[in-house]
Amino acid sequence: MKLTPVAIGDLSLEIPIIQGGMGIGVSLSRLAGSVAKNGGMGIISCAQIGFNHPLFERSPYKANMKAIEEQYKVAKSIAKDGIVGFNIMCATFKYEKYVKRCVEVGADVIISGAGLPIHLPELVAGSKTKIAPIVSSEKAAKVLLRTWAKRYNRTADFLVIEGPEAGGHLGFKYDGIETAIEKMDNEVKKIVAVTKEYSEKFKCEIPVFFAGGVYDRSDIDHYLSLGCAGVQMATRFVVTEECDAPKAYKERYLNARKEDIKIIKSPVGMPGRAIENEFTETIKTKQIPIEKCRSCLSFDHCDRKTIPYCITEMLLNSVTKNPDCGLVFAGSNVFKINEMTTVPNLMKELSE
Ligand SMILES: Cc1cc2nc3c(=O)[nH]c(=O)nc-3n(C[C@H](O)[C@H](O)[C@H](O)COP(=O)(O)O)c2cc1C
Repeated sequence: MKLTPVAIGDLSLEIPIIQGGMGIGVSLSRLAGSVAKNGGMGIISCAQIGFNHPLFERSPYKANMKAIEEQYKVAKSIAKDGIVGFNIMCATFKYEKYVKRCVEVGADVIISGAGLPIHLPELVAGSKTKIAPIVSSEKAAKVLLRTWAKRYNRTADFLVIEGPEAGGHLGFKYDGIETAIEKMDNEVKKIVAVTKEYSEKFKCEIPVFFAGGVYDRSDIDHYLSLGCAGVQMATRFVVTEECDAPKAYKERYLNARKEDIKIIKSPVGMPGRAIENEFTETIKTKQIPIEKCRSCLSFDHCDRKTIPYCITEMLLNSVTKNPDCGLVFAGSNVFKINEMTTVPNLMKELSE
C-alpha cells in the first residue's frame, strides 16, 4: 500500500516522511531539496550552517545568517513546490535571531528540539512558517502544548517524537536509554493522545511523526499503527548521493558494525549516539583543549572551562577533515546499511 499524504495546515506533505535535520553540514540544500522534490519534507540543519562561508572564521554568526538564505534558495530551486524547512536547536546561541532569519527567508517549517521551544510561537507570529517541537516524553509534550495554548492561544502545526534509537543528541538520561527503548511504543501512544486533546481544542490536525531507528517500510507501518501520521528519518538519508556530507563520512556509515555504535557524552549535557572512532576513544580519558570558540551554544548550555571537547570543532572535523578524528553521529540502525543509494530510490523503497 502507498503511504497517504498528510496535511500540515495549508501544506500537503505528499509522502509522510521528514528527513531529519543533521548538523554540521550533513543536511544542507542538496539533501533537503532532493527529499522535498521527491515528496518528503526536506530539513536543512541550522547548526553552523555557514561553516563553508568565507566569513565563517571571522564571524560565524554573520556567515550563518547569510547561509540560511543561500541554502534555502538552492533547496527551493531543486524543489519548487516541495516542503523545505530548518531544524534549529533550542540550545543554539542566538536561537531567536536564527529563527527569525529562517522566517524572513520564507521557510515552510521550523522544527526545534534539544530543549523545549517555549517561545517559538512568538518568533514566527504573523508568518506562514509552520512549527513543530521535538519531544521525547509525554511529560514534555504536555508541558509544551499547555504552555503554547496558555501563552499564545495556539498549538503545534505538527510534532516530532524523538525516541532513544535516534542519531545525535538524545532526550534521555545516559543510564535510561535501554529502559526507554522498551517503553517507547507506550510513550508514543500517550503522546499521540495528548496531541488529540489539543487538536480537538484548536479544531485542527496535529500530525505526529516518529523519529529514531526507523529503518524500513515495516518500521514506518509500525509507527502508523501506533497513531503517528508519519516518520522522521535521518541516518538512512546520509548514505545517498545527494547527502551534503563528504564521501569519507558516508563510507564511515557503510563500514559501521553494530558494535561500533556508542552512546557518548556531549558538551550539550545530553547523551549522543555516534560511531566509535579515534575521537570517541580519546574522550574516554582526555579533555580535548578548545582551539577556538565559534559560539555555537548559548552560555547556559556550554561551560567553556569544563566541557570535555568543543562540539562544533569535533562535528566540523568529521565533515571537513577526517571522520576518524571527529564526531560522527548516527542512529542505532546504521550498521544495517551497506550500500549507497539515491534519494528517489530511497523514497520509492519506503513509500511504495
Ligand atoms: C549525523 C546526524 C546529525 C544530526 N543533527 C541533528 C541536529 O543538528 N539537530 C537535531 O535536532 N537533530 C539532529 N539529528 C537527529 C535527526 O534529525 C533525527 O531525528 C534522528 O537521527 C532520527 O533517527 P535515525 O537517524 O535513526 O533515523 C542528527 C542525526 C544524525 C544522524
